[in-house]
Amino acid sequence: MYQEAVEKAVAHYRDLLLSQIDRAEKMNNVPAPAKKEKTVIGVVGGDGIGPIITAQAQRALEALLADEIKAGTIELRTIEGLTIENRLAVGKAVPDDVLAEIKACDVLLKGPTTTPSGGEQLESANVALRRELDLYANVRPVCVPEEGIDWMFFRENTEGEYTLGSKGIEIPGLLTMDFKVTTVAGTRRIARAAFEFARKNGKTHVAIVTKSNIMKKTDGMFSILCREIAAEYPEIQADEYFIDIMSANLLKANMRSQLQVFVMPNLYGDIITDEAAQIQGGVGTAGSANIGDTCAMFEAIHGSAPRMIARGMGDYANPESILRAAVMLLQHIGMPDKAAKLTAAIETANRTAPITGTREGASCAQFGDAVIAAL
Ligand code: IPM
Ligand code: MG
Repeated sequence: MYQEAVEKAVAHYRDLLLSQIDRAEKMNNVPAPAKKEKTVIGVVGGDGIGPIITAQAQRALEALLADEIKAGTIELRTIEGLTIENRLAVGKAVPDDVLAEIKACDVLLKGPTTTPSGGEQLESANVALRRELDLYANVRPVCVPEEGIDWMFFRENTEGEYTLGSKGIEIPGLLTMDFKVTTVAGTRRIARAAFEFARKNGKTHVAIVTKSNIMKKTDGMFSILCREIAAEYPEIQADEYFIDIMSANLLKANMRSQLQVFVMPNLYGDIITDEAAQIQGGVGTAGSANIGDTCAMFEAIHGSAPRMIARGMGDYANPESILRAAVMLLQHIGMPDKAAKLTAAIETANRTAPITGTREGASCAQFGDAVIAAL
């Protein structure tokens, strides 16, 4: 009865498998990036509150990098067109001309983009960019100093549940199937990134977070490969936790202050970093880095807040998380002093122009003014 649908699904699955084999093989052959005279920072506004908050981060970067911009060693390049309207018009997660402009940059500061959910709709622009630029490490810091929390999450960013998230199978009226993909090279490189970070920063513990008791093949291999990499870092203790209990541990005071570095597959990382950000004060407070071997993209951890826009409250959006992303960008391009300056300015602004998300608090632009004043 379902023969035709089955044949179609099997052919589709075969194509998916071949495309993933191709991706996995290419991952082993990434050329080292060439050294450049000039660093181009692309600034992409995005949708909803995106352009509003990104404008404040751009101001801060312009102020901090004024000398370098004048000397021509850094260029801040505004990239237009990554909007939901344009994406729907051309039927592409990232329009070709925008992608070409983005690929010409060395690093990107990107505002949130709207992701349509379900059905036959457009793929998320974030997911497409992470794939196109091969930004395999999603690095998210969360700090609550008064509680002794200083976490760094390494979320695998190009595979897992996301790679084929828009390419599942449907037998209409009966069932749907999505696929999760884990590659050897993809797991090794995210594990390496986490353990290298731990070593360089004097961390003594890495939590490997999976659900390998249930996702036997994918998380099973993720777990084995992480342990193999861990063996190369004998000074660091590595423990495996399942994602469910880790979500609980983040809420346990005596447990959470012991945790330092985390490494995990894509979807678990997506979910738990929102939880972690909430512990720090909300998703509006957390920045996020997407790092690859040749390019890196820095963004807010949250979405484009369409409800806030609908309520006419976009101007009161909190730019802290995109400013934190700008801090990570500065660290990434080798400017730790400017990064520290910006962090201090954000903290000052939090005192002098606190944002409440209501008209009683500071507006996004007022927060930006306070950051500039503190720089
Ligand atoms: C994130 C976001 C994205 C994700 C969305 C916008 C596609 O939630 O960066 O965590 O799921 O990765
Ligand atoms: Mg998320």
